[in-house]
Amino acid sequence: MEARGPENVKVGLSVNGESHLVELEPRVSLLDTLREKLALTGSKKGCDQGTCGACTVWVDGRRVLSCLTLAITCEGQEVTTIEGLADGEEMHPMQRAFLEHDAFQCGYCTPGQIMSAVALLDEGHAGTDPEIAEWMSGNICRCAAYPNIRSAIREVRDRKTGQ
Ligand code: FES
Ligand code: FES
Repeated sequence: MEARGPENVKVGLSVNGESHLVELEPRVSLLDTLREKLALTGSKKGCDQGTCGACTVWVDGRRVLSCLTLAITCEGQEVTTIEGLADGEEMHPMQRAFLEHDAFQCGYCTPGQIMSAVALLDEGHAGTDPEIAEWMSGNICRCAAYPNIRSAIREVRDRKTGQ
């Protein structure tokens, strides 16, 4: 494969179903690209070193920490951010459940929590409260809204399974 960089390179990204061509240094993270090049500031920068989960997005449906992901490696894949979750004006059921269960206080961690929570259900890791806690453990909430976050996840899980 042809080496690219270290000077700026053009990177084609598909984010929330829209194609973008951005020019950046190959070392730039997906998180910085989303926030600074594409003005998608829903994904938050908490630690910028892979420990808090505030920057969680999906790449081809799999949750990743966008602060640890190089934007250039996402070419040819579909990136989904919190801005791409709602269906037009209609909130995603997980977004609604977070509101209804008061699953946040300051809200800084919330986009990452929601992106992880939806993926968690798809992964089949939301069977019990300890399982939810374990598989959401990469998403830190400094406001300690964990019980309410788990209630929101349980509600969406149970609605999905018709309980
Ligand atoms: Fe990415 Fe904290 S900002 S894990
Ligand atoms: Fe404040 Fe989670 S709601 S950090």
